[in-house]
Amino acid sequence: MVAAASSLDLKQEILELKKARNAVILVHNYQTGDIQELGDYVGDSLGLAYHAKDTDADVIAFCGVHFMAETAKIVNPGKIVVLPDADAGCSLEQSCPAPELEAFLKANAEKNYYVIAYINCSAGVKALCDVICTSGNAVKIVNQAPADRPILFVPDANLGSWVMEQTGRKMDLWQGSCYVHVEFTRDSISKIKEEYPDALVVAHPECTQAVRLLADEVCSTEKMITFCQNTPVKDIIIVTESGMLNRLRKECPDKNFIPGPTDRCACADCRYMKMNTLQKLRDCLANLEPRVDMDEETRRRAEAPLLRMLEQSKN
Ligand code: 13P
Ligand code: SF4
Repeated sequence: MVAAASSLDLKQEILELKKARNAVILVHNYQTGDIQELGDYVGDSLGLAYHAKDTDADVIAFCGVHFMAETAKIVNPGKIVVLPDADAGCSLEQSCPAPELEAFLKANAEKNYYVIAYINCSAGVKALCDVICTSGNAVKIVNQAPADRPILFVPDANLGSWVMEQTGRKMDLWQGSCYVHVEFTRDSISKIKEEYPDALVVAHPECTQAVRLLADEVCSTEKMITFCQNTPVKDIIIVTESGMLNRLRKECPDKNFIPGPTDRCACADCRYMKMNTLQKLRDCLANLEPRVDMDEETRRRAEAPLLRMLEQSKN
């Protein structure tokens, strides 16, 4: 009882601070249910990027991981962007350090690569790219790449190979991966399919090809919502990070969602996403720290490919 009351107090305090700070709370689909409840907007990386660009709030409290908050800052240099836990990173971002990409591009300068970066990367990497994409618009963005240039796709090799399958466009792939999504295996998903033979399988494109081949639908987290709303099938196996189940159960209360298991367990938690808590959200609104910032030169160079993505995504 005491714990429930204090969580209520915390939520009340967050709402009051949000008002006092003229803040907006943007929340990714992988956050815990209590944080999702407080979001002015809850969605995928693409929806969050649009909302971050369009907000007229003075402060953006970003409940997600660092690259997402950094994206909000890139398009809002004049606003304060806070992230409840400054250490909420991403294995994909870590797999492609900007100096390594810069050295690779220099060593392969004769190729004249058109560089497409999945949004799960640092501002430094974005600054080296021609255009950004998310899992929600990657096919569209790759289809609009100049036909006469070779494409380098960074940092997610799994998303990249899925986009190649969808578009027929060959790309050179940076060998990064999401440590959560590669834990799903052909065996673990085949087993759960045997248990629920009538269920559909919906997987995120960060999964390996072996897992994607077992899926009825491969899509971004936000598209999972519309897919599940529109299918008449009741049992759906969800092959992505666990936080997604909160959102799906709220938006599709009549469906039975089955968490896709890994070989080890049924809990596909992203340790970075789960670093944010209600307490830390309250603290970051109270202290306006930890802030997400970057030097102006990097921000300016990272902004161009990001705005190009937002434009091309409307086509
Ligand atoms: P979405 O853009 O599909 O929400 O994916 C973000 C992410 O980090 C997936 O692991
Ligand atoms: Fe990064 Fe994977 Fe976590 Fe998404 S789930 S934030 S890709 S580590």
